[in-house]
Amino acid sequence: MKISLGADHGAYELKEAVKKHLEEQNIEVADFGCFSKESVDYPKYAYLAAKAVADGECDFGVICCTTGLGVSMAANKVKGVRAAVCTNEMLAEMTRRHNNANVICMGQNVVSQELAFSMVDIFLSTEFEGGRHERRVNLLTDIEDGKELTV
Ligand code: RB5
Repeated sequence: MKISLGADHGAYELKEAVKKHLEEQNIEVADFGCFSKESVDYPKYAYLAAKAVADGECDFGVICCTTGLGVSMAANKVKGVRAAVCTNEMLAEMTRRHNNANVICMGQNVVSQELAFSMVDIFLSTEFEGGRHERRVNLLTDIEDGKELTV
């Protein structure tokens, strides 16, 4: 398993901590930055880390900013990416089970490092349930492809 990592200056420390946490478990990471606390633009780093997932270079992504919100918006604009902001363990589990999320977004000012590690571990070890959820996830792709949905 290979995990893409991305963060802006607001979550540089959280990204570094998650990187160490994953490497301690012998999980390979691809770190797309940023690489210091110097102010940067979060869409660029979210894009790079999300694109690595969309391109199949990485299996999942962990992308962080101060809140988790901006990077999730950027990541979700990359075709094939389903990014979810998670603030507790239930969300990390459910977004894998029901949404087949392939990117977890977190905010350094929102979650503790311990909670972030736990959410990442749950996210990476939970399987997509498929079934009726597959149909719904496929509808997300239809939206992405510009199809008009009707009820
Ligand atoms: C940077 O100040 C902050 O706006 C960013 O980290 C992120 O939270 C944006 O959504």
